[in-house]
Amino acid sequence: MTLPPAVSGARPLLGHTWEFLRDPGELVRRGHAEHGRMFSVRLPGGPGVVLLGQDNAKFFHAESDALRLSIREAYRFLRHMFGGNTFWLAEHREYLRQRAVLVPQFTRGRIARQVEEMDRRTNALIDSLPDVGTVELTDLLGPLVIEIATSLFLGGDAASRFRGLLTEFRAFADGMDPLLPGWVPAPHLLRSHRARDRLRRITSTLVTERRAIPAEEPDFLEVMANTALRDDLLVDLVVMLVWVGHETTTGHLCWALIDLLRHPHELARVHDDAFLGRALRESERLHPVTAFLARVATVDIPHETCVIPRGATVMLHPGVSHRDAAVFGDPGEYRPDRFLTEPASALQTFGGGIHRCLGEHFAHSEMKVVITRLVERLEMRLLDPDPVAVRGHRSNWPRRPCRVAYAKRLPRFSPT
Ligand code: HEM
Repeated sequence: MTLPPAVSGARPLLGHTWEFLRDPGELVRRGHAEHGRMFSVRLPGGPGVVLLGQDNAKFFHAESDALRLSIREAYRFLRHMFGGNTFWLAEHREYLRQRAVLVPQFTRGRIARQVEEMDRRTNALIDSLPDVGTVELTDLLGPLVIEIATSLFLGGDAASRFRGLLTEFRAFADGMDPLLPGWVPAPHLLRSHRARDRLRRITSTLVTERRAIPAEEPDFLEVMANTALRDDLLVDLVVMLVWVGHETTTGHLCWALIDLLRHPHELARVHDDAFLGRALRESERLHPVTAFLARVATVDIPHETCVIPRGATVMLHPGVSHRDAAVFGDPGEYRPDRFLTEPASALQTFGGGIHRCLGEHFAHSEMKVVITRLVERLEMRLLDPDPVAVRGHRSNWPRRPCRVAYAKRLPRFSPT
């Protein structure tokens, strides 16, 4: 038994590294056309194995839960952003201990209480806009999503007390670089480290204050401040949550709005909550913000007729898997109602197994609130009608510029 077949185009020495960096989607599409649902690529650290389709995703998550595929090894490159003992980067028992602290924070009841704050922030943003104008979508929605995350995880007044907090989180996120080691003095890494240090100081101050003066109604920060976790871990976990909570949600939210604006018949249905849920799933399918999910094999793993060798980086690529015509009819078309009959469980963007996203319901609630309010209060038109995703390894946001012209709707007359 051997390594899965290699996709064409490997260069001497570099293998597929350059193409993997520049346009990984194209590389995966070619591998799929050449070899089907399992193939290998040559990367700097050794072989990479790409797995596509629903069955392979189940295999990937089951092997991850059994620790034969390691999330810790795959996300080592995040060690310069967080302490080496934080969450995914910790040894498995410690990860489970930290996860157990987070899980109760994401119950539906708790999120229902947070929806009011999401709505308040969205309305305040719309209030602050001129009556008519043009906005760049990521510039408009990115700060809103970070503001909601800081408000809910760090406390309502954090952003107004600490100037530049939202920009600091973006600079911090720029440190997510799977190839350059964290010690390289590249400008984006240096910026990210400065932002990390400031974010840690601010979060630590907020935790100390909250312990001294509890809030009237205990919020996320207060519950976290009173757990048994060591302070440095606690601070890194809170920073991590604001980071994961905004990076992916911003991209998904922008795509969902773009898709709706491009399909006026569907846009008119967003007030139907169940429909809006399906529209979010359809944008998730067509434009998954998660470029890859990655693990490292800790042992040789036989799979079908091949062996995934120990040390190989194993990857799912939702972008290609979501266009499988055997699962989704007319996979290139935007049809939210497909999920009345087709399986949302085949989507891979929120992960699976024990690592399935804890914030999925949070993200869906937030996106629903923001989209509903925007559509209710603004007449909108896409000025860049055919946006494409950014290339590379960051979350697949729509590429800039992605401008929207808007006019505020007149408030409805309500007889008293
Ligand atoms: C559109 C929005 C989002 C997407 C697409 C997304 C995607 C993902 C994915 C793919 C994973 C698993 C990573 C892996 O297995 O390698 C994950 C895990 C996680 N996400 Fe999300 N996420 C989103 C929003 C959020 C939000 C808003 C939060 C929190 C506020 C959040 C918190 C988490 C946490 C805590 C985990 C770790 C679960 C574990 O490993 O135990 N996510 N997310």
